[in-house]
Amino acid sequence: MSRTGAPARLGEGDGGATVPRHLAIIMDGNGRWARGRSLPRVAGHRQGIEAVRRTVRAAGEAGVEVLTLYAFSSENWRRPPAEISYLMGLLTHYIDAELDQLHGEGVRLRTIGDLSAFAPEVRDRIDAAKERTAGNDRLTLVIALNYGARAELVGAARALAREAAEGRLAPEAINEDVLDARLETADLPPLDLLVRTSGEVRLSNFLLWQAAYAELYFTPTLWPDFDEEALQAALAHYAGRQRRFGGL
Ligand code: IPE
Ligand code: IPE
Ligand code: MG
Repeated sequence: MSRTGAPARLGEGDGGATVPRHLAIIMDGNGRWARGRSLPRVAGHRQGIEAVRRTVRAAGEAGVEVLTLYAFSSENWRRPPAEISYLMGLLTHYIDAELDQLHGEGVRLRTIGDLSAFAPEVRDRIDAAKERTAGNDRLTLVIALNYGARAELVGAARALAREAAEGRLAPEAINEDVLDARLETADLPPLDLLVRTSGEVRLSNFLLWQAAYAELYFTPTLWPDFDEEALQAALAHYAGRQRRFGGL
């Protein structure tokens, strides 16, 4: 199956009303949610965890195969150290508190992004959670951590250059599928629907390659307010799209 390319999906008769196989969400607006309540920004992040819980459950129930959540971008290091360390604490707290439940619900945990920048205890927690849930197949939850799409593409370019330099790959053999296979999302289904909350209409360096033919949905709802109804609205939007992939 072509992974970038839509023809394989067209062949599957994917133009009509379906549930997205792969849904990605840019979870934005935590800070504004808090500010609107005269609370510190981190209160918005804490509340955002509830939205993650709701969304993971609802996406699984809706039949989504892969849910990719943008939790920390490679640019988010520009935030104040106190906010960054709060976010790291929340991440480990989420894994500790949710792992049994996620595992029980058949969720497989994965990550994309460069984890080498994280503290060893955070990495160990993540690795253990991935290992424990590796055999689950109801929903794959991909958390994007220190992820940046440009860095991901640079990594793919570097891998291809290395293979070519070592004589294992002819430059002429490089095509879209070959590059796609070097991305961190290589073994995931193509991205169908990309949602961003909080009213911002930009991708902020998220899944740039993968979004080439994704349906895009922007909602003013702030992430901590995102609930099952909000997810259903996004899924209804998707179901109403006719995906043409350049055809008619
Ligand atoms: C998204 O909410 C969470 C992360 C980026 C970690 P923000 O913290 O960006 O909230 P706003 O955009 O400032 O409201
Ligand atoms: C994007 O949100 C990153 C995440 C949701 C993790 P940001 O709030 O960091 O994006 P910008 O700065 O508004 O583009
Ligand atoms: Mg933001």
